[in-house]
Amino acid sequence: MLLELKNVSKAFSGVQVLDDINIGIKKGEVHVLLGENGAGKSTIIKIITGAYKMDSGEIKWKDRHLQVNKPSDAIEVGIGTIYQELNLIPHLSIMENIFLGHEKKKRRKFSLLDRPAMNKEAKRLMERLGQNVNPNELVKNLGVGQQQLVEIAKALSLNCELIIMDEPTSSLSEREAEQLLQTIERLKQQGMTIIYISHRLEEIKRISDRITVLRDGKKIRTVDTDKTTIDEMISLMVGRSLENKFPKVEFEKGKEVLSVKNLKITPDSPGINFSAYQGEILGIAGLVGAGRTELARAIFGADPVHSGEIIVLGKKHRIRNPLDAIKAGLAFITENRKEEGLFLDQPLVFNKTIARLNKVKKNGLINTQKQKEIANNYVKDLSVRPNNIHLFARYLSGGNQQKVVIAKWLFTDAQVFIFDEPTRGIDVGAKVEVYRLMNQLVENGAGVIVISSELPEILGISDRILVMNEGQITADLDRSEANQEVIMKAATGG
Ligand SMILES: Nc1ncnc2c1ncn2[C@@H]1O[C@H](COP(=O)(O)OP(=O)(O)OP(=O)(O)O)[C@@H](O)[C@H]1O
Ligand SMILES: [Mg+2]
Repeated sequence: MLLELKNVSKAFSGVQVLDDINIGIKKGEVHVLLGENGAGKSTIIKIITGAYKMDSGEIKWKDRHLQVNKPSDAIEVGIGTIYQELNLIPHLSIMENIFLGHEKKKRRKFSLLDRPAMNKEAKRLMERLGQNVNPNELVKNLGVGQQQLVEIAKALSLNCELIIMDEPTSSLSEREAEQLLQTIERLKQQGMTIIYISHRLEEIKRISDRITVLRDGKKIRTVDTDKTTIDEMISLMVGRSLENKFPKVEFEKGKEVLSVKNLKITPDSPGINFSAYQGEILGIAGLVGAGRTELARAIFGADPVHSGEIIVLGKKHRIRNPLDAIKAGLAFITENRKEEGLFLDQPLVFNKTIARLNKVKKNGLINTQKQKEIANNYVKDLSVRPNNIHLFARYLSGGNQQKVVIAKWLFTDAQVFIFDEPTRGIDVGAKVEVYRLMNQLVENGAGVIVISSELPEILGISDRILVMNEGQITADLDRSEANQEVIMKAATGG
């Protein structure tokens, strides 16, 4: 065993978040931590890396007691962590980022940096990850996927023997995610040990050797990946089997709720035309970068547009900013939920009702009783955990924060809901709840548009699918004629 957690427990203000956890990480394995949102995965990582202190228990590193009081202690023994929020400095080069804080100095002239040596080493490290790059390239010019690889190179340069990755693929495009998975396979061949957290069960199945499943802060079991199935992973995780991952309900197609006419973002961008109808979920598929988020932002007034018309329920609206959009009856649940969607230092009850305070106002005052009631209902529907509406959003697990943002928008009286990658970072069980809420919106007569990069999701929940490529709609498919191949073909312009 390279790393062992023995009887590790942790509580936050009286709530037991980790309860007597025992996990052994073998040298050279890819070990996945799997569990629902709020199960305690990130907390385990934060304890290993010294960001949090455990209440009781012990960590052993190579059979010896390990005391980590701060993140640099973990790095010193050889534990590197790649967090979801990258820690790179954009205007520095790849090399400067890799060696930041442990620069190589020239011998004798000890104050001078040995840039050629660092460049050579940076190039070599990136090559180890399968990347042929110029080490002088600025990090801000790289995509998120490559930036993540720079972080991994930094961990390698610090001679880390264990690399921990907490949901590294949740912000990546499919291509970048594939590249990362290949990098992990490569690192494993080189003898690296990896702790990996993800909600994407297929990728877990592919790259891991063993999986430790957590539920409500308790360890359920550690299984060998090749002796388990995705269905078993799910049932260990949620404590029951999940019969239907996509609870599709068919409604009758009704009137047009949204019509976008000749929408141009710049004078020479192609004019976009489409409509969404009551009674249907309209999926928008496409590769990352196809222009789906840009389209949604343009409709919502979040970015300036050149020209075009937006018609909501037959009425033309001039939308210059998101406030206009909300007034016109649109809701936009963005993909960057944390940055754009949440007030981290406000309790859930506030976050849920902020988009539509009028609804809980009486004589100009906020009816806190009603506000609480509504918040409690959503907490229940989306199984937000812990179900305490007074908790600051900051203290929720990543996936639970996302549920709160979704709930916030569901509370508005919008006619049209545009969801951008709604289930990123959300566990399998909670995904089903999100789909159910979408069905409910459709049932209530709203238009629902879902942008998603996950083809099974798009195929599972949509009644109709638009495919985009290079800023244009290249296909408009009925549920019955859509499949992975047809979508991929339209998405790649083929
Ligand atoms: N600083 C904190 N104060 C209070 N509660 C916290 C704090 N940090 C985490 N928690 C709680 O600990 C529990 C476990 O959270 P953790 O972030 O470990 O979950 P997770 O398994 O990583 O979930 P996700 O899949 O959503 O990322 C959650 O209920 C969370 O609200
Ligand atoms: Mg987490």
